[in-house]
Amino acid sequence: MIEVLPVSGVIGAEVRSADLSAVDDKTLSAIHAAWMDHCVLLFRGQEIDARDLVIFSKHFGELDIAPANENGDSGFGGFPEVLVLSNVVEDGKAIGALGNAEAQWHTDMNYIDEPPTGSALLSVEVPDEGGDTGFTNMYRALDDLAPSLRAQIDGLKIKHDSSTNSGGYLRAGADPVNDVTTCPGAIHPIVRTHPETARKALYLGRRRSAYIMGLPLEESEMLLDALWAHASQPKYSWHHQWRVGDVVMWDNRCAMHRRDSFDNTKRRIMHRTQIKGDKPF
Ligand code: SIN
Repeated sequence: MIEVLPVSGVIGAEVRSADLSAVDDKTLSAIHAAWMDHCVLLFRGQEIDARDLVIFSKHFGELDIAPANENGDSGFGGFPEVLVLSNVVEDGKAIGALGNAEAQWHTDMNYIDEPPTGSALLSVEVPDEGGDTGFTNMYRALDDLAPSLRAQIDGLKIKHDSSTNSGGYLRAGADPVNDVTTCPGAIHPIVRTHPETARKALYLGRRRSAYIMGLPLEESEMLLDALWAHASQPKYSWHHQWRVGDVVMWDNRCAMHRRDSFDNTKRRIMHRTQIKGDKPF
């Protein structure tokens, strides 16, 4: 049987004694239960490849086809579900997305109508320092919200802009946002109910170009700043320092994540899958 050991007092657990290339039904259901309890799971020392990652991830739902990288390529090794995140440049071309820069707090693809349930990330090559990935507990952030702030967001929705990625770069083909009140974007409740645990979580998506529907711009900005200042306090997060062969899976419905920058002379290659999700409610 697997062992589940919390990695911090607030979010995440390490799952020991699981070989992700060969999981039986009993192990899968224990992993799923641990995922719902801890929002983020870490599996160390996995000797798996992109194919195994796809097969493992599919146990948790249908997978998204990976979006194209900044270089226009998509998929990896014949698996269209795999997104390569990397700073490595080969023959003058980046092999993956996001480069070496910091990625700010976000949830994956919050800017679509049905954002992914979760993501699984396999480390293939990692630098000896930098490039850590942080996770923050959005159940806890909501539970701790000051009553006055909680009352202000009741029933409100955020419009989530898609024009920039988590590194702050304009996506290919996107128009820069001049007016957040009129730009296109998916609209989701600020407080969402997790469809499996039935717990309520704060759902902020990304700060850049967000807008709270129906509020004057200045009020929306002030409220968003207050919510972000609250949710991004270190007491709600845990930061993972990668080793090769780690797999981390996170639940996008109750966790945000971010990544530290790292030295661009060092190689970092990660493979990510994403489980399709539902419309937040
Ligand atoms: C991301 O999904 O935002 C990046 C995660 C990472 O590269 O650690």
